[in-house]
Parts: sequence; C-alpha cells; structure tokens
Amino acid sequence: MKDNKIFDLIEAEKQRQREGLELIPSENYVSREVLEAMGSVFTNKYSEGYPGFSDLDGSDDDVLANEPTNYRYYGGQENTDKVERLAIARARRLFHADHANVQPHSGAQANNAVYNAWLDPGDTVLGMNLGHGGHLTHGSPVTQSAKIYNFVAYGTDPETGDINYEELKQLAAQYQPKIILVGYSAFSKIPDFERIVEIGKNIPNCLLMADMAHVAGLIAGGAHPNPLDYGFHVMTTTTHKTLRGPRGGLILSRGMVSNPLKKPERTLDNIPTLIDRSVFPGTQGGPLMHIIAAKAVAFYEAEQVSFQNYARDVVSNAKVLADTLTTHGFKIVGGTTENHLILIDMMASFGIDGKIMEIMMDKVGLTLNANAIPNDTLPPFKPSGIRLGTAAITTRGMNRAEMIKIGGWMRRLAEISVEISGGKQPEAAFASELAAIHEEVRQIAEIFPVPGM
Ligand SMILES: Cc1ncc(COP(=O)(O)O)c(C=O)c1O
Repeated sequence: MKDNKIFDLIEAEKQRQREGLELIPSENYVSREVLEAMGSVFTNKYSEGYPGFSDLDGSDDDVLANEPTNYRYYGGQENTDKVERLAIARARRLFHADHANVQPHSGAQANNAVYNAWLDPGDTVLGMNLGHGGHLTHGSPVTQSAKIYNFVAYGTDPETGDINYEELKQLAAQYQPKIILVGYSAFSKIPDFERIVEIGKNIPNCLLMADMAHVAGLIAGGAHPNPLDYGFHVMTTTTHKTLRGPRGGLILSRGMVSNPLKKPERTLDNIPTLIDRSVFPGTQGGPLMHIIAAKAVAFYEAEQVSFQNYARDVVSNAKVLADTLTTHGFKIVGGTTENHLILIDMMASFGIDGKIMEIMMDKVGLTLNANAIPNDTLPPFKPSGIRLGTAAITTRGMNRAEMIKIGGWMRRLAEISVEISGGKQPEAAFASELAAIHEEVRQIAEIFPVPGM
C-alpha cells in the first residue's frame, strides 16, 4: 500500500522547484546520483563506530584495495566500510585535510562535536556576532552550546562590511579564547585567514576553527581560499549548500589520525581523534550510511573539472547580480560580494523591510529570505534586509543574461512593494503585472531544468 498523501506532496514539491528560481544562498539542487545514493538500502544498516583509517592517501582504487581492521560495533560492514573510506579519502583530497569525519548529521551537529571535543564547560569561544552575519550555533543564547560555553562576539565594520579585525585581535587578547571561530551565514567577504592565524598564534592552546558551511563548494572548486591551507586546525561545513551534496555535516582537520577507541591526550595534534570520539559516541549515535554514500558521490562530483567551472560561475554570477542590483538602487551591505551571497539593506534602499520583499518575490516564484543586516533595528522576523545567492541558479546553468533579468524583476517588485505597503495602490492593481512576471519566471525556469528530476 502506498502513502499517496506524501507522494503527492513530493510531486508538488518537484513542480515548485521546477517552475521557480531558488535564490536562497544556502540551498542547491543535487544530481540524480546523489538523490539515488540518499534513497539507497544503506539506510537499513547500523554502522556505529568507524572504518579503518590507514591507506587513505591514494586514488579511489588504492583506497578500495585496502581493507584495514575497522572500529565498528556491528557486523556486516564490508560495504559500509568501503563507502565511508571513499567519502573520507575524497573529502581529505578536496580540502587538503589530514582527516575527515563524514558522520555529522548536520552543520549544527558538526559544530557541537568540535566544541565538545576541545572545550570544558565555561571555556570561551570567540565567534562572529549573529547580528553581523554569524550563525546561531556560534553562541546564540537560544542554543544548548551557549548554556555550556562562554561565547564572546566580534563584529563587522559597518563601512566595509568586512570583519573588524582590530576588535577581533583586542577581544582575543582580552579573553584568551580556547577557540577562535570564523564562520557565517550572511557575510559576503573573503576572510583574511592569514591575519586570524597570526592573532590565534598568540593565544596558548587556541583552536582555530572555520565554519565554512556556506562557501565549502567554492573552496572545493578553487574559487575561495581554504582556511586549512593557512594554518586553521579545523574546518566544519554543511554538505548541502554550495558543496551540492545531501543535507548533512562534515568536519575536516589537521593533525595526527589514530585509533578512535583509545582516549588521546587533549592536544592540538590529536584533534582528529578527539573529534572522532566527540562525534561518536560523544554527540551522535549511528551514522546515516545512505547520506554518507551520497556525500561520497557529491565529493566525487566536486573533484571533477566541471565543478571548478561551476564554483567560478557561482562567484561571477553573484558579482553580475550584485552590480545589476546596485544599478537598480539596491544598497548592498559591504558594497558588493566576493562569494555566492548578497545581503541587501531594503530599508535603506526602498524604505521597506525584508519580509515585505520576501513575500512579494514568492508571489512570482522567486525564493529568497528576509535577513537581519548588521546593527539592525528591526526584529528578526521582520528584519531590514534580504539575503540571496547564486549557488542553485548556477547549477541550473544560468548565466549573465539571467542575472540581469532577475535584477530587473527585483527592481520592479521592490517598486510594487513600496506602492502597496505605502497604501498608494491596492495589491489588486498589480495582479496582472505580477502574473506576467510569474509567467516570465516560469518560462526561464523551463529553459534551465533542475538536475536530478
Ligand atoms: C555557517 C553555518 N553553520 C552551521 C549551519 C547549520 O547547518 P544545519 O542547518 O545543517 O544544522 C548553517 C546553516 O545554515 C550555517 O550557515
């Protein structure tokens, strides 16, 4: 017997994704192969523990040729061990890491596992202010980690939109944090990793952690610097944003890889094993082997030349879109973008809040999200800004001409929003114009199909 209700909703969601354009910067479209691996029989298997970690240096074939003793708690792992070893080997190659833990169920789980690996309750983490683009898991009081650890926040410079490095340096000297964390979900500059490493070097036993959830795909594709290349000890990420894999987390680290069944001393050298023990059994149970299989497929795709082209196009499309929007009167936080993401101050641009724009764009099949801007005076649910990005539309093959088109639609939608919210005209007065824009969006969407469907 089939659950028609859910399968009908899957079909409806396919249609929504097919006919609309996804501009939320944390979303993407995975390939059919990633979807197939996610829907595979590996979901039936329990694999608590880890595969063997030796001989992960060579090609995929070298990795498969070796079957070292594993550290699992259940039998029947002849296939799962190979899948997880391939996922680890590919992730290590992509991100120049000594070790990869591919088991975190999500980006939040990955961050919590690193905190749990390195910190004692009450220890200090210096991370980016949530209101300036940081992430909830970097110390928002609503999280469990904020109840356990002491988070101190550095901000961004309102003029440049960049990290306030002087403040970061001063807070690091003052608080002597156990972790300096660079990461964000609404920030469009490339961090000065070298400068942060210099700051961290002066703090004893300070772990340098980069949460690159948003830009991991750009790093893998060579369109963004890699913090591990500059001396960061740990990089966490989600696998489903620019990296274009299944929904999940990943932790990359530098250091010595050893037997996860033996408790190591808490030193920076032992970070890989401290993290393995912190993921399982520290913060999670059995790994999602079907998701790990899909991560391995996504990493394989990210190792191809076509992915390097993709990463480059994501960034150039974001620049074209940012330039177009600027021409149309949108005020971009920091002036422009250096990655896939654009943050816009809608209050300063048109005198409307971000939620009004989000809702207006939804009406024509363009999806983005309202977002706080640095030092926002409006509440989080109705913030001053909007956040958009080019990861998903670039996956569909869109380019310069489509970016210019999207910028033009957005200008008109902002004008209509101003008219309606200012009470000058009822929404009904724009019904036919909105329907026409929606039809144009559908037509462009049809030219650029969603992969995997
Ligand atoms: C920088 C950053 N870290 C962590 C996360 C959390 O990832 P997840 O939603 O998979 O838990 C996100 C997600 O938006 C993020 O942007």
